[in-house]
Amino acid sequence: MEDIADILQEAVREGNKALQGARSGLMYRHKTYKELVTNCDIASENAIAGFLSGKFQNAKIFSEEVGEIVGDEEIVFIIDPLDGTHNFIHNIPFYAISIGVYSKGVPFAGVIYLPEFQDCLYAVKNEGAYLNGQVIHCSDTERLGESLIAYDNQFHKHESMLKNLSPLSERCFTLRIFGSACVDLCGVARGWMEARIFHQTKLVDFAAGQVIVEEAGGKVTDFQGRPLTLQTTDVLASNGRIHSQLVELLGTQKVDSRLRGNDKVCICNSQ
Ligand code: IPD
Ligand code: CA
Repeated sequence: MEDIADILQEAVREGNKALQGARSGLMYRHKTYKELVTNCDIASENAIAGFLSGKFQNAKIFSEEVGEIVGDEEIVFIIDPLDGTHNFIHNIPFYAISIGVYSKGVPFAGVIYLPEFQDCLYAVKNEGAYLNGQVIHCSDTERLGESLIAYDNQFHKHESMLKNLSPLSERCFTLRIFGSACVDLCGVARGWMEARIFHQTKLVDFAAGQVIVEEAGGKVTDFQGRPLTLQTTDVLASNGRIHSQLVELLGTQKVDSRLRGNDKVCICNSQ
């Protein structure tokens, strides 16, 4: 049996080949309000799903554009074939390809590839986090007042995004909005920034990054500091050391259940 980390790295590179191949004929359409999808998202998704189905005949695949490909729930692949689509369309290099793996309903492994930097970050539970083969760690900053925090970009999704911005900007050192969930999670894992805050996010945005951040020594929970479930949409990923300070700041927010994004996701029947 090939190593899962090797298979995942091969899979994202297959996705990237298809993505770059389709780029010369770039086309896009509206998927939802203020969200576009391109032919490159689809090309990458098809390549990754095809590659993984060839390796794991019975695996279940959950992918951002196509949805669920039915299979055995023992191992589930969660794919974002292009994260940061709007950056990609605008030729901004902050975009990524991401595959998370759940084993029996629990996050188990993840890979994120940043094509413009040729950076491949990956982790398997209890085996550490790596960037192009080198071990990586989150930063050891302990004070929120000295922290750089990455934030959401889709302010139309929920009023709490704007509400939380002001107190956060007062308490932290500085904020950044890069426009790619996966690039940001890699940033937390490699120590570029102390945290990433997600309101109303989707499982594909953080499935891989969660394992990478945790294996790099960080923490990923909901705004109340509780472990993530498949229903969680407000996610806090940090270097671990400033986590409780952020929970204190964000934990009083109430989630509007009408806006939950992951209700249709079924990773494991027991969840
Ligand atoms: C989006 C980006 C964005 C995040 C959104 C995601 P997409 O992913 O990661 O930064 O705020 O929640 O949907 O649509 O470009 O794959
Ligand atoms: Ca995407």
